[in-house]
Amino acid sequence: MKKLAKKVAIVTGSSRGIGKEIAMKLAQEGARVVINYNRSPEKAEEVVNQIQQQGGEATAIQADISQVDQIQQLVEKAVEQYGQLDILVSNAGVEHFGKLEEIAPQDFERVFSVNVAGQLFVTQAAARHLSSGGHIVLTSSVSAKIPVFYHTLYAASKAAVSAMVLNLAPELGERGITINAIAPGGTATDMAEENAKFYTHPALRDLPPNTVLKTTASLQRLAQPKEIAAVVAFLVSDDASYITGSTLAADGGMF
Ligand SMILES: NC(=O)c1ccc[n+]([C@@H]2O[C@H](COP(=O)([O-])OP(=O)(O)OC[C@H]3O[C@@H](n4cnc5c(N)ncnc54)[C@H](OP(=O)(O)O)[C@@H]3O)[C@@H](O)[C@H]2O)c1
Repeated sequence: MKKLAKKVAIVTGSSRGIGKEIAMKLAQEGARVVINYNRSPEKAEEVVNQIQQQGGEATAIQADISQVDQIQQLVEKAVEQYGQLDILVSNAGVEHFGKLEEIAPQDFERVFSVNVAGQLFVTQAAARHLSSGGHIVLTSSVSAKIPVFYHTLYAASKAAVSAMVLNLAPELGERGITINAIAPGGTATDMAEENAKFYTHPALRDLPPNTVLKTTASLQRLAQPKEIAAVVAFLVSDDASYITGSTLAADGGMF
């Protein structure tokens, strides 16, 4: 019997990157998976096809996670289609780098509407349908704990996520639902490809690629998205039934 057999999961932002690998992994473990995407319909359909080719069940649903009404429609459509909801993985997120002087209210709105409000309201919408034994995983980041030049907005949004799971744990715990966060380190996705250079000290940006990573991550390399997906699959399984309110680091031992 597969670990997530008979379960239904929503994975936000699963058309690409870490979310895609989480969706694939949960499907391999037997879950029926809702692939949420915003701007990449073809990629989301590819994920559905790959899951189906491997004998799994999945469907793609468009919803912009920065919009509360669209979040509610996403969850309602998922429940309508599969008749239940057991697992939420809130993975959709956006990156930002900018000096203090340059941060505009629109930047704050763009980052916090997805990374904080989006994660809060998708949790609220999903929790209405979860019953005892349900599992929620939100996405924080190693950035919440490690200072990086000009990363204030993104880091603050990810620190908020860890505070959310900590404080939602008792409220959801009363109903037998666990809520945790994953805090990935640098992971090989489009997001990392576009932003990796900004993670280094400004004076060190001309060094050969990965030089700085070698001096800041114990494992001296980026994670592959599958390595993050494996941790999430554990957190949403009953093997993790006594873990709640935690932010679990999967960061290759960054310092
Ligand atoms: N990669 C890293 O090094 C790293 C490290 C720590 C934490 N994280 C976190 O891990 C999560 C995934 O990161 P990633 O590297 O896989 O990112 P990515 O490669 O940029 O992919 C982002 C995914 O999120 C979706 N998304 C973005 N905005 C959305 C919105 N408003 N509504 C719905 N979906 C939206 C995208 O969907 P569409 O393409 O369909 O728009 C895409 O599927 C994020 O929360 C990120 O902050 C990443």
